[in-house]
Amino acid sequence: MSAHPSQQGASAPSNILERVRQCAASVTRYPLDILTGEAQLEDELGIDSVKLAEIAAVVGREFNLPPDRLPRGGKAPTLGAIAGLVTQVLGESRAAPVPVAVAPSTPAGVSPPMPVAPTAPVSAPVRTGLEMGARADAGVELESRVRAVFARVTRYPEDLLTLHADLEDELGIDSVKQAEVMAVLMKELGLSEGPKPAGRLRTMAAICEAARALLPSAAPVASAPVSRSVHVVAAPLPSRLDLPFVGKVALVTGSGKGIGKVIATRLARAGATVVVNSFHSREDGEKTARDIVEAGGKALHLWGSVANEEHLERMFSTLGEKLGGLDLLVCNASNGLIGPFDRISPRDWDKAFRTCITGTYECAMRARPLMAARGGGAIVTMSTSMSQRYMHDLGCQGVVKAGVESLTRYLAAELAPDGIRANCVSAGPVHGDLLGMFPDAPERVARWEAATPGGRLCTADDVADVTELLLGPKTQRVNGAIWVVDAGLSGTVDGLLPAPRPS
Ligand SMILES: NC(=O)c1ccc[n+]([C@@H]2O[C@H](COP(=O)([O-])OP(=O)(O)OC[C@H]3O[C@@H](n4cnc5c(N)ncnc54)[C@H](OP(=O)(O)O)[C@@H]3O)[C@@H](O)[C@H]2O)c1
Repeated sequence: MSAHPSQQGASAPSNILERVRQCAASVTRYPLDILTGEAQLEDELGIDSVKLAEIAAVVGREFNLPPDRLPRGGKAPTLGAIAGLVTQVLGESRAAPVPVAVAPSTPAGVSPPMPVAPTAPVSAPVRTGLEMGARADAGVELESRVRAVFARVTRYPEDLLTLHADLEDELGIDSVKQAEVMAVLMKELGLSEGPKPAGRLRTMAAICEAARALLPSAAPVASAPVSRSVHVVAAPLPSRLDLPFVGKVALVTGSGKGIGKVIATRLARAGATVVVNSFHSREDGEKTARDIVEAGGKALHLWGSVANEEHLERMFSTLGEKLGGLDLLVCNASNGLIGPFDRISPRDWDKAFRTCITGTYECAMRARPLMAARGGGAIVTMSTSMSQRYMHDLGCQGVVKAGVESLTRYLAAELAPDGIRANCVSAGPVHGDLLGMFPDAPERVARWEAATPGGRLCTADDVADVTELLLGPKTQRVNGAIWVVDAGLSGTVDGLLPAPRPS
């Protein structure tokens, strides 16, 4: 049972921090020793905005905080800051009697995490002051659908998603997540264009207003099911003994999901022992490794950020201890805000640079002695073919990935004496979750397809095909190369210009 916050000792700052750490551990399943009071939750520990909201909710229940005083947003970047906010609220409320918390206890003395929002659209009426007014049923249904989509995509508990909360500042739903929600919402509402201007829609209430203006007046809200792309089809391992990567150890960074997951799975099927790495999506990484093992392959999951030196130190020393060396490295991890230049902050640039460039460089240099000790190895880095072209909203990624291509040439030259090759796969738009993050995804995909010779964009398997080839024995003389895998899209002009402005 949670202690009453006003009990003697329980509200001492050190106890509060301990209980906040326990709350964070129960949500993230991270070991307590890395959940220090000082660590930056997002940048250093990779706890994304969804998990931060869950932690805020669990802390709120643990200390019986009023809903409008939950520790979240910019004021709560560390567990120490969260503990400080809790101390402040408890101090303020000590003057007035506080009702006793009745959260059920767990062995760790921490309330269980909030249940994850349901995956089906929610049709129950929502009880906010705004909606209790004289709104028509259709309006209430729209708001409840918008809220349900937010809950489903962000996995926030619905009770946190108040209509007038500022999405970014109060709820910590960043612009990338907002774009993802908008793409799903438009599909769900059957809209062909999104509410505009998206940049100024800072609350769900504002989004509802804008969406209402776009809906045909009496038309019922469409409820098309939302499909999330699944890249990996589990297939049994071939039983051939001549698999190209038997006896090789491969590390694929950022391989809990997306293209990285497909590459890791394919390398395992080709005989490699694969180190799966994930950071923000720890559970996805664990699952990828588990799936590989269950399919008969060999895999190990290592959690950590490629943008964090301490994490890399730990990852590579574990890799060396457990697997004895490394032969193949795929620097797939990537971070880059999708949006126009006026939405990219210095922090976004820094994150993109540290993840894509410093992270790739650090991984390659830490891989070098492990590969050299085995007579050499192969590295593949990941770029986008839009590093050499303009594509609306891809500025941050395009610019940083141009640096990745340059870095690859330099690695090829500097690591060659150790028998290590470095090549880059430069992919065009690939069907998958990332494309859904573009604000007007369906239209863009249609335009890209129309501009692609052959009319079809690449899949993650196409990218994995070339990655395997560049890692394997058939490309021993290919070094410092940038291989474009975009079905020919970047060779054309149509579709690469900004969308025409509506007149
Ligand atoms: N999809 C496309 O259309 C496309 C097009 C061109 C190029 N590419 C490139 O292909 C690669 C894979 O793309 P994708 O679409 O599958 O996914 P993505 O959204 O670009 O993310 C790639 C991976 O990076 C990981 N990641 C992010 N920050 C990390 C960090 N600090 N440390 C470790 N991992 C980190 C993510 O895992 P966590 O959540 O676990 O952190 C995720 O698995 C990327 O390099 C991307 O730039 C993709």
